Amino acid sequence: MEQSLAGKKILLGISGGIAAYKCADLTRRLIERGAQVQVVMTPAAKEFITPLTMQAVSGRPVSDSLLDPAAEASMGHIELAKWADLILLAPATADLIARMRAGMGNDLLTTLILASNAPIAVAPAMNQQMYANIATQENLAALAQRGMMIWGPAAGQQACGDVGYGRMLEPMELVGHCEGFFGPKPLQNIKLAITAGPTREAIDPVRYISNHSSGKMGFAIAEAAANMGATVTLISGPVSLATPNDVHRIDVESAEQMHQIAMEHAVNNDIFISCAAVADYRPSNVAEQKIKKNADNEHMQIEMVKNPDIVASVAALTKQRPFTVGFAAETQDVEQYARDKLKKKNLDLICANDVSVAGLGFNSNDNALHLYWNTGEKALATASKAQLAKQLLNIIASDLFRKK
Ligand code: PMT
Repeated sequence: MEQSLAGKKILLGISGGIAAYKCADLTRRLIERGAQVQVVMTPAAKEFITPLTMQAVSGRPVSDSLLDPAAEASMGHIELAKWADLILLAPATADLIARMRAGMGNDLLTTLILASNAPIAVAPAMNQQMYANIATQENLAALAQRGMMIWGPAAGQQACGDVGYGRMLEPMELVGHCEGFFGPKPLQNIKLAITAGPTREAIDPVRYISNHSSGKMGFAIAEAAANMGATVTLISGPVSLATPNDVHRIDVESAEQMHQIAMEHAVNNDIFISCAAVADYRPSNVAEQKIKKNADNEHMQIEMVKNPDIVASVAALTKQRPFTVGFAAETQDVEQYARDKLKKKNLDLICANDVSVAGLGFNSNDNALHLYWNTGEKALATASKAQLAKQLLNIIASDLFRKK
């Protein structure tokens, strides 16, 4: 196992949510990678997972009381606050987040947070309605503004049966964030712009043509790039994803809007990645009013006109041209079509994905990529989009971009 977290001291603060049961696995995986983990639990957390379990997996007595003379005699709470290289709050309940925002210190965990100048990462976990509540959103925004990292939450089925945003990130995703936080910064001083998600091409005021892109691949790259030290601009079509930490996001709808924003930003960036699924065509006329069904017409035709090719326009820049990376979403003859696009669009690198494979490509959490450039190629096997993003950026940073 790669010791990617060797010697890092992580204070894992667990508050009282059902996701606390995942903390045993999280702790084990952090330790496997060389981290030292000191667990601190709120009283409510102990209702969900026992201190004995957390002591067994972390190999250290759990800290859970502010007013415990024995604990204070071994490692006092101020010492503990100074010990940590990172405070990871997982799960962070709506209550913990609210108390942190208010600057309260009414238990050991919140006192430690106040007394520490270690970087703090918050992994929210709660019911989707609690997460959507304006109070929680304002509290999280305030914590982010104070410089805390907000990792997640993810969307999906919740323990209470609801579906939506509020699930704590999986242990391995949190480990990935820790690795990104402590890891090398090969993109330090590099500016990177990336497009992500679909575009929407209006037909009339209520209808549009679009595709199944969720934005997950592009957002994962934006997040990984920021973790690697890049200054990231994310130009996003309409998606329902949270903006990654330290990423400047610009929302657009249509291909023409994306083209305009991309051209404004490309010249100020060292790397441009076109991960968006841009509509090749748009309706030539957008009806001013909603188009009505006509009893006489069984068929209707929409005339389409070609959209500007964003990545090709960036690659065609003669001055301040960034290292330009495209994606190719193919369902057959993947290599041939990808190589054609690499050449025709004058790209430095193309990332082909076979979107006919179930569970990969559009709107999935995993993907597989095959990279082609003029003098080489590399296959990146099926993995989470977060892992692929890191691999792709490492290749760009070390092998390609530097040699350009
Ligand atoms: O968003 P997800 O759900 O995570 O899915 C990820 C993805 C499958 C969308 C992503 O991995 C991907 O393949 N993105 C590119 C999709 C696409 O439009 O491929 P394409 O083969 O049609 O286009 C080739 C390249 O030209 C792409 O870099 C595209 O961004 C770019 N392009 C296309 C048309 C256009 N008018 N302007 C462009 O810049």
